[in-house]
Amino acid sequence: MLPPGPKGSLLFGNIFQARRDPLQFLTQCAREYGDVVRIRFFNRVAYLINHPDDIESVLVLNSQNFIKPPSREPSRISEKLFGEDLLASDGDFWLHHRMQAQPAFHRDRIASYGEVMVAHAQRMLDTWRDGEVRDIYEDMRHLTLEVVAKTLFNTDVTDQVADLNAALDTIMHEITSRVVSPLRLPTSIPTSRNRRFRWAIERLREFIDKTIRQHRANGQGENDLLSILLRARDQEPGGVTENQWRYEIMTLFIAGYETTALALSWTWYLISQSPEVEARLWAELGAVLGGRNPEAADFPRLAYAELITRESLRLYPPAWLLGGRVALRDCEIGGFRMPAGAMIIICPWVTHRDPRYFDHPELFLPERWAADQAQLLPKYAYFPFGGGSRHCIGYSYAMMESVLMMSTIAQSFRLALVPGHPVSPQPLITLRPKYGLRMQVSRRS
Ligand code: HEM
Repeated sequence: MLPPGPKGSLLFGNIFQARRDPLQFLTQCAREYGDVVRIRFFNRVAYLINHPDDIESVLVLNSQNFIKPPSREPSRISEKLFGEDLLASDGDFWLHHRMQAQPAFHRDRIASYGEVMVAHAQRMLDTWRDGEVRDIYEDMRHLTLEVVAKTLFNTDVTDQVADLNAALDTIMHEITSRVVSPLRLPTSIPTSRNRRFRWAIERLREFIDKTIRQHRANGQGENDLLSILLRARDQEPGGVTENQWRYEIMTLFIAGYETTALALSWTWYLISQSPEVEARLWAELGAVLGGRNPEAADFPRLAYAELITRESLRLYPPAWLLGGRVALRDCEIGGFRMPAGAMIIICPWVTHRDPRYFDHPELFLPERWAADQAQLLPKYAYFPFGGGSRHCIGYSYAMMESVLMMSTIAQSFRLALVPGHPVSPQPLITLRPKYGLRMQVSRRS
């Protein structure tokens, strides 16, 4: 028996419903058709998996049965960027590189990044004027980009931030629109859109090269990620090509700053809508910090700030859709037989808002993460950082950065959404606030 699913057009399947409003479409599929839903995009069938046990089975327990294949558009782009299709690299390439990067994310290393995170947040606050209106999403992107460059690559990117963000925006929009609408003109045809896309790719490439040059000129620190990777590269018998090298750096930059910027942005939005949460946060900051800036050692004591972050990641998971997995052999999921080659979609946005696991799932209630309640949840009812061997390598980094930055900023400023400013999640590769986040910042006495 086939899993149930929404009817679609004979030729296009469900592509138009999915394109109109992906979040709404996938949520409705789950609520109407259950834990395994069959969806069709043109002639390609995908299965949306919604039950925590099935998600655990795909990501963890039977992960060897599923691969994370290169999706066509991003890999074409990597070809353009680097001259080879690195996203199609096999499992060994991934494993090897993950092991190389791991020491930079060790607990002790993360603690040493705390100081940089707070110092950069403070530097940003020094430029804020009491009462002014700012785009907080832009601010968070600037901040997290500078911090990731400094902590992981020992590089200062302040003068390039605006240009780089513009390039990344173009690339993300283009990738998303090519994935959902494959009937696009090839990038070689010089339309204005294609020219902009090529400009963005060139810009990103220049940026990565400049980062490597700057890092070398800085005399290569001992312990930042770039130094660790450089040492590992030099010790490798076969060596890593210059392109693999560039690709590695780009992945870490993008994964490391855009997601955390989004986590912080959505958190500011949610706090601004909940005076009780804001008051509890201020009370904690007063008790733990008493006016001084936080440091890494304060992280475990900023417990409520951590609950806020967790709850924000539940409602607005920056990685709202986990890159599809493909079944390597016939298997069974949720009582349905799946053929080898079946494409699996897992959507944290949908599962995180499932009323079977979360009371009043639409409400922002950090208290729901108090230890006793959280322990009752099935493990994969909540997975903003993925799971299994491909879980987020930057998990501890991101949690610490979110909590320390939130605390530094909330101690000095109150952020209020400008009345009437529309807030709407835009599901590109990451989940962004479609119109930015215009907020008025007021200095706290
Ligand atoms: C709130 C912030 C973050 C969120 C929500 C997030 C989420 C995720 C998720 C869901 C995955 C798994 C994707 C999948 O299974 O398809 C992932 C993987 C990854 N993340 Fe994060 N991430 C965050 C921050 C970071 C940071 C700060 C870094 C690095 C500094 C980072 C680096 C990576 C890398 C390299 C991978 C790929 C791991 C692999 O395939 O082995 N992430 N992230």
